[in-house]
Amino acid sequence: MNRRKFIKATVVAAAASTVFKPFYTRAETKKYRFGFSQVTTVEPWRVQFNKDMIKEAGKHPELELIITDGQDKTEKQVADVENLIQQGVDVLLVSPKESAGLTGVVLKAIDAKIPVIILDRNVETDKYTQFIGGDNVLIGREAGKYAVELLGGEGKAKGNLVELWGGMGTQPAHDRHDGFMEHVGKESGIKSLLQPMDCDWKQQKAYEVMSTALKSFDHIDLVYGHNDPEAYGAYLAAKDAGREKEMKILGIDALPDEGVTWVAKGQLTATFLYATPGAEGVRQGLKIMNGEKVEKKITLPTMRIDKTNAEQILKENGLA
Ligand code: FRU
Repeated sequence: MNRRKFIKATVVAAAASTVFKPFYTRAETKKYRFGFSQVTTVEPWRVQFNKDMIKEAGKHPELELIITDGQDKTEKQVADVENLIQQGVDVLLVSPKESAGLTGVVLKAIDAKIPVIILDRNVETDKYTQFIGGDNVLIGREAGKYAVELLGGEGKAKGNLVELWGGMGTQPAHDRHDGFMEHVGKESGIKSLLQPMDCDWKQQKAYEVMSTALKSFDHIDLVYGHNDPEAYGAYLAAKDAGREKEMKILGIDALPDEGVTWVAKGQLTATFLYATPGAEGVRQGLKIMNGEKVEKKITLPTMRIDKTNAEQILKENGLA
């Protein structure tokens, strides 16, 4: 099997078994083993995250990467991390389901002297080696600024707002809300229609909350989904009620085959990039193994994708 075919086959196998063992010639010995505890693989952003990590790991034959799937449950993810600690991985990477539940086991890894890189969602300690993720307050702020613009501009904005929360036990959801409210909260003409309700980052839950909102309120001007699956769930609910033209819909993540495509089709008004920290996580883990000093926090950049640049991004990704 040639190398390209091998990598492709390995990625497929990895997706199935969640264990990735790169190719070694006899002369090469694997030097490092990284263990990555992923929260779930049911969300497309998580699937992309794993792919990014596997691709980067594939460039380093000295590296073995083990990926576990927490199946979206805190208990399962805690057990996965315990297991990786027991296996004595050289670097532990964790992208938690929620902050509180994963903190204890992360501290255990630190006590066992394993370097720990936290990815995307935080834990309730700063004793880890490094955190890599987007700036969710900034993303929320960008979304809030745009929402005010769409609703009439600073000091004049008016309209009924539906905010669909991500998992309330996670920092990204709170940061995305707080950043958004820095702008939207100043506008007395914008009325928030719902009490905060946990949609757990899921399209289906967002669809249900939005369906109820559509029944209760005759006019909705803007929907803010804490991620693209939620924003798209809201779009589908509005469409099923024949009301999708009435409102603007904002999301976050901007995967080319999801959020960006939905923006290009006019189903969402805009989405904000939330890059996966998969590749950077591998690169930073290798730095640690090479004895280099790493930054405590790495922040990944964001950008707005709306009708002005969605097509271009699709082209760049071979999707248009
Ligand atoms: C995937 C996801 C993304 C979101 C991120 C926040 O599990 O819900 O859609 O941006 O997690 O942690």
